[in-house]
Amino acid sequence: MLTCTINDLFLRLSAWPLATEQPTLVMLHGSGNTGVLWDAQITGLADIANVVAVDLPGHGGSQGAAAASVSEYAAGIAALIPALGISRAIVCGLSLGGGIALQMLLDHAERVAGAVLLGTGARLRVMPMIFQLIEHDFESFVQGMPGVAASPNTDAALLAPLMRSVLDNGAEVTAGDFRVCDAFDVMDRLGEIDSPVLVLSGDDDKLTPAKYSNYLGNQIAGAELVTLSDAGHLAAVERPDAVNQAIRTWLLGLSG
Ligand code: COA
Repeated sequence: MLTCTINDLFLRLSAWPLATEQPTLVMLHGSGNTGVLWDAQITGLADIANVVAVDLPGHGGSQGAAAASVSEYAAGIAALIPALGISRAIVCGLSLGGGIALQMLLDHAERVAGAVLLGTGARLRVMPMIFQLIEHDFESFVQGMPGVAASPNTDAALLAPLMRSVLDNGAEVTAGDFRVCDAFDVMDRLGEIDSPVLVLSGDDDKLTPAKYSNYLGNQIAGAELVTLSDAGHLAAVERPDAVNQAIRTWLLGLSG
């Protein structure tokens, strides 16, 4: 896998320079994660797209401070896209990353060719218990991720690299991301979106339940909604083949 740093953002890439005849997927991770979330998409979709997985500012290998709002994260990704040498990208985000993708559809539409919204919602309120656990016992929070964020049918070993990335980012960055989620709300703005959108939802997702994905699917004109079986909130690592197949089918539909 290739890596590089652009605009102070550490990137994992399927190709560099980007193959200009292919669409580019810019992958945005969830709270406290890094681009390691998307390793299976980088390898699994490389034949049909440039796949660029970002470490958000202050996360993983990226410089700078973590952002204080979804809008601030979105502005940084909007600036990254031309720095990649392309005018538009398909933004693909999970949870917080999906919120960033939604904000980009709304406020940076000139940089967005479409979006994949995975395990996310138009509002992302966070249970107080999550903040309490991060503050008082961060290691237990991370060790509890499989039980809270994954399907009971998922092999917890699949989550190990992601859990390590959360531990490395630390409690402050992770709690900051959840605060950013807690303040996010674009429920009333989805009618403004006129780009192609794929909504992916794990049927065992307890953190962003089916109600959230159904809302996105119903409120965004033309959005396609796919429900993934035996997948929780972290479907990209739990069911990588199913996620890749859904994105592949949607991408081929767009180009056809
Ligand atoms: N899409 C559609 N509907 C949504 C929504 C979304 N993204 N977010 C909230 N709603 C709905 C809720 O279902 C609820 O509907 P209801 O009144 O018919 O029951 C209403 O909007 C208000 O919900 P919310 O804003 O979430 O406030 P709350 O005080 O009812 O609940 C929590 C607060 C934290 C308990 C709740 O948001 C929750 O359980 N969140 C999921 C767990 C979590 O922490 N996820 C982390 C996400 S990063």
